[in-house]
Amino acid sequence: MKILIAGGAGYIGSVLVPKLQTLGYKVNVLDLFWFGNHLPEETGVVHKDIFHVEESDVMGYDVVIFLAGLSNDPMAEFSPGMNFISNAAAPAYLAYTSKKAGVRKFIYAGSCSVYGYTVNEFFDEDSPTVSDYPYGISKLQGERAVMQLADYGFSAITLRQGTVCGYSPRMRLDLVVNTMFKTSVLGNQIIVNNPLIWRPVLAISDAVEAYIQSINADPDISGIFNVASGNYTVGEIAEYVKEEVGKIMKLDISINTKNIDDKRNYKVSCQRAKDILKFIPKNNIKTIVDNLHENMDRFRDFDNPNYYNIEVFKKLKVDLI
Ligand SMILES: NC(=O)c1ccc[n+]([C@@H]2O[C@H](COP(=O)([O-])OP(=O)(O)OC[C@H]3O[C@@H](n4cnc5c(N)ncnc54)[C@H](O)[C@@H]3O)[C@@H](O)[C@H]2O)c1
Repeated sequence: MKILIAGGAGYIGSVLVPKLQTLGYKVNVLDLFWFGNHLPEETGVVHKDIFHVEESDVMGYDVVIFLAGLSNDPMAEFSPGMNFISNAAAPAYLAYTSKKAGVRKFIYAGSCSVYGYTVNEFFDEDSPTVSDYPYGISKLQGERAVMQLADYGFSAITLRQGTVCGYSPRMRLDLVVNTMFKTSVLGNQIIVNNPLIWRPVLAISDAVEAYIQSINADPDISGIFNVASGNYTVGEIAEYVKEEVGKIMKLDISINTKNIDDKRNYKVSCQRAKDILKFIPKNNIKTIVDNLHENMDRFRDFDNPNYYNIEVFKKLKVDLI
């Protein structure tokens, strides 16, 4: 099976691509390489903007996956115009071009951030999507454009991911568990902006499993699926990180709690992904921390700006809109 991953050189792609290769898939990556290239040498790469993709670029692939765009709130807020173009128009254009070129399956990296601010109930894929901030709105628009193309010959799958955490060769330290791990190790401290806020967390290896299950899903299956390893309050995440890092590194870590408002608060049900995609998450905060600890020597330069998307993005010589 031949797979093209747009944005495959990013944080998620840099774990997904090698895993797919070990399973025997032929994987090529189309990317702008904002964060460099940490992919296995055998990966076929196309250095190209999605907006310059032609039918010939996607022809012959069985599956096209969208992992590109601006992947967090700070980037989206730094350049809202570019955010809407990259997160809404780019997946729309790539899915449209893929379908026209005869690709049979398109998988979109969606986000639970589309849910916005909810109050203490589990949201499933039919619940209201009320986000009112650039990242959440744009991820919903991208998702809608992709999903409206689904039909008998074109499977469209959106994975609404929780915050992905864990080690990747293209490391990010701006994701909640990763950030808490870093500050625990570096300064024996975890800062919690608001302990009561809910966040679904998705271990990167569980994210990879969700993509594999989607690739292998019956071609008749299209749909939107929440994917998370678990739902936690930010306060709970901090307690688990403190406990696990404290235990394995023999550190005494303090939690510094603030009460800053947050526009994102949601917990999600992953029942549909479990029933239809047979997605079975295997991780929790403890195993994510263990995974970070095992790989720590690979990102010990904690202040490397490449680990913080907004730092790289601010320096990019792209035409910000
Ligand atoms: N990481 C998370 O916690 C998380 C959670 C939910 C959803 N998502 C979504 O998953 C996807 C991947 O996330 P990530 O953390 O791996 O992102 P990332 O920021 O690490 O990587 C994004 C990649 O896309 C590339 N890219 C951006 N615009 C492009 C364009 N126009 N043409 C070609 N390449 C382009 C960049 O060069 C980069 O390699 C994103 O769509 C993000 O919104 C991520």
